[in-house]
Amino acid sequence: MWNLRRLQGATRNFTHADIDIRDRAGLEELFRRQRFDLIVHCAAQPSHDKAREIPIVDFEVNALGTVNLLEATRQHSPEAVFVFTSTNKVYGDAPNEVPLKELATRWDYARPEDYAGIDETCRIDRTLHSLFGASKAAADLVAQEYGRYFKMNVGVFRGGCLTGPSHSGVELHGFLSYLVKQTLSGGAYSVFGYKGKQVRDNIHSHDVVTAIEAFAENPRPGEVYNLGGGRENSVSMLEAIGKIEELAGRKLNWRYVDENRIGDHICYISNLAKFQGHYPGWKITRTLDDMLREMVGFQREQMAGSPAR
Ligand SMILES: NC(=O)c1ccc[n+]([C@@H]2O[C@H](COP(=O)([O-])OP(=O)(O)OC[C@H]3O[C@@H](n4cnc5c(N)ncnc54)[C@H](O)[C@@H]3O)[C@@H](O)[C@H]2O)c1
Repeated sequence: MWNLRRLQGATRNFTHADIDIRDRAGLEELFRRQRFDLIVHCAAQPSHDKAREIPIVDFEVNALGTVNLLEATRQHSPEAVFVFTSTNKVYGDAPNEVPLKELATRWDYARPEDYAGIDETCRIDRTLHSLFGASKAAADLVAQEYGRYFKMNVGVFRGGCLTGPSHSGVELHGFLSYLVKQTLSGGAYSVFGYKGKQVRDNIHSHDVVTAIEAFAENPRPGEVYNLGGGRENSVSMLEAIGKIEELAGRKLNWRYVDENRIGDHICYISNLAKFQGHYPGWKITRTLDDMLREMVGFQREQMAGSPAR
């Protein structure tokens, strides 16, 4: 809600329609009234762990809600470019089969051929996904089908960790944002398993937007791309805590829990070669340190008086 108010104040020609993507009639009405040329579908139940408490809602929002949007697009704006924000969790725990080596502060891929990370050929079935990963995989497949079968301009982006200063991180989703928040506010943080050496690649929202813009300018129906920060922007939990503590000038109150989250990736780095091959003008422009500096600065401002996030 804070971000909606920000957008309403800072932009022109912005209209907000408060519609639940499970509400097919509401979507139908919106799409009948309004023609779209670009649809960026980011609505989700986005948490891996939360899904176990709400399996039906998770599937209705992530899978059925996506079909509702795709079908409304097909019926009313079939020429539109449709971007679906999928996730690397569609690969389930298959990325954990890549041989790893343990370094002082992180896990890393053991073989040189895996250095650039996980690419789109990684299988998405016969793995442990979490219910969230399964509902997103269902949506990912249906979105591809609207591209391939109906030849619509659908692109599927399997996100690594997407973040930025305006990310409303919570305990179960948005780890860098939540880490920054907890470090600055003195709140507690738990690290689950893998010795705190689990690795994620992080991409700034600016670079996500430019990737979507590149696809929208020259869409390839039904294509799937991994989208994350790549190796340069990868970080382990231990490393992230160290970096944020340094920027924040205070220690995080964290504890280690021996058991890892079910199906959690040990080392996940998005291989960006396919997207960069198709869209050579696109590149990562924000480093991990840029991102963290911005996040700490923004969070400090928020804590100094703006509405709660
Ligand atoms: N942030 C990440 O690290 C990451 C990684 C991979 C994929 N993704 C994907 O990117 C997208 C955005 O994620 P995020 O991190 O911004 O999460 P978020 O929770 O900040 O945003 C999700 C948005 O969906 C909206 N929403 C939830 N249920 C809805 C419904 N039934 N109808 C309409 N809107 C609904 C919420 O209000 C919220 O604005 C999601 O599809 C998520 O799966 C995110």
